Amino acid sequence: MKSVQDIRALFDRLIGEERLEKAVFSRARGKTVKKAVALPFAGAGGLRYQIQRYTADNKVLHENLTPAETAALTVLSSGEFAQTDLFTTSGEGSFLVSSKGQVHVTVPLSAGAGNAPKAEAAAHDRKKQYLLDPVRHASFLSALGVSDENGRLFDKKRAKFRQINRFLELLDDVYDKLPAEGVLHVCDLCCGKSYLTFAVYYYLTELKGRAVSMVGVDLKADVIAYCGALADRLGCQGLRFVSADINRFDSGEPVDMVISLHACDVATDMVLDFAVRKKAGVILSTPCCHHEMMHTIKSEKLSFITRQSMLKQKLCDAATDALRCLKLEAFGYTVETLELVDPEETPKNVMIRAHLPQAKNPLRMKLAREEYLAATALLGTTPTLGLT
Ligand SMILES: C[S@@+](CC[C@H](N)C(=O)[O-])C[C@H]1O[C@@H](n2cnc3c(N)ncnc32)[C@H](O)[C@@H]1O
Repeated sequence: MKSVQDIRALFDRLIGEERLEKAVFSRARGKTVKKAVALPFAGAGGLRYQIQRYTADNKVLHENLTPAETAALTVLSSGEFAQTDLFTTSGEGSFLVSSKGQVHVTVPLSAGAGNAPKAEAAAHDRKKQYLLDPVRHASFLSALGVSDENGRLFDKKRAKFRQINRFLELLDDVYDKLPAEGVLHVCDLCCGKSYLTFAVYYYLTELKGRAVSMVGVDLKADVIAYCGALADRLGCQGLRFVSADINRFDSGEPVDMVISLHACDVATDMVLDFAVRKKAGVILSTPCCHHEMMHTIKSEKLSFITRQSMLKQKLCDAATDALRCLKLEAFGYTVETLELVDPEETPKNVMIRAHLPQAKNPLRMKLAREEYLAATALLGTTPTLGLT
């Protein structure tokens, strides 16, 4: 390989045969971008290559290319950067390009196509297992301490990774309930460190190609400031973070979807209250600990359960979530409860998933309201945020 034309031919071959797994461009000639990485991924329209540019002011800019647009990789390796490292399904290679365009191969890449596997197949396998790709999404996963910057997951964060991927799968199932066009308005309430917020942001913008107006809300001002700075650094357009009490929060715009992962105790009721108030079309909420009913339940008829505190807790957990479902149904939602992840991983495992159907069912709404009132009468308590 001697010239820029040879580099172009090499990229054409690697991409044509779908053998390129990753290209890393370093030793920048300019000052604004320090490094760039190209990664294949299975996009909605087929194979795509994502270029991630790491800027000097610590942002990561993303650009997605079709295989026909990958001449850009030759420009990166022969113009913007002096060094290129290639990772392919048939081995690794490196070369340098001088400012005069002379190519010096430092690690020769083996020629072999033939029976070399396709990189796209690997991407499909990853996609089948997880909607989030740890390598492609390493920029936010590493910033949140889930992986290192090459996308290698940290052992102690694997459960979190599985959890947010499962949440994405459960969202994927109801994606068609969201408006098919226009900007999607999404609120992640009690977002904490915002693993889920970023995951859903990338799911909607990259995998689904949607424009979003998304807000993560949490009480913790320092965590919110960190997440806001990270969104800024990663160039996440349409993603913002607000430090607020969700009980008093209003996004100031319509809401298509409310998501929430492990909002503590009555905070989940606030999440659902917000969603109902804003007539959110889709709700995905995984409650956290349940405390309120443990202190307020007063039922002679249920005393055969409540006298055993462990069983009392299980009853209160189930009754609290069941009342939440009835409340949503009373406001016209179609509701289901699902398991988030393997129950052995966490007891906080219930997902309440709801959507507003095209036409509400007034009879079911009335019945749900009556069932709610009958259930609270039996329990001898009504949750603070009842059928308001
Ligand atoms: C168990 S953490 C879950 C965080 C995140 N969703 C996750 O799964 O990693 C619960 C979060 O809810 C937040 N929170 C609790 N009550 C809240 C309220 N009324 N308004 C806003 N945030 C609240 C807490 O600050 C905390 O960050």
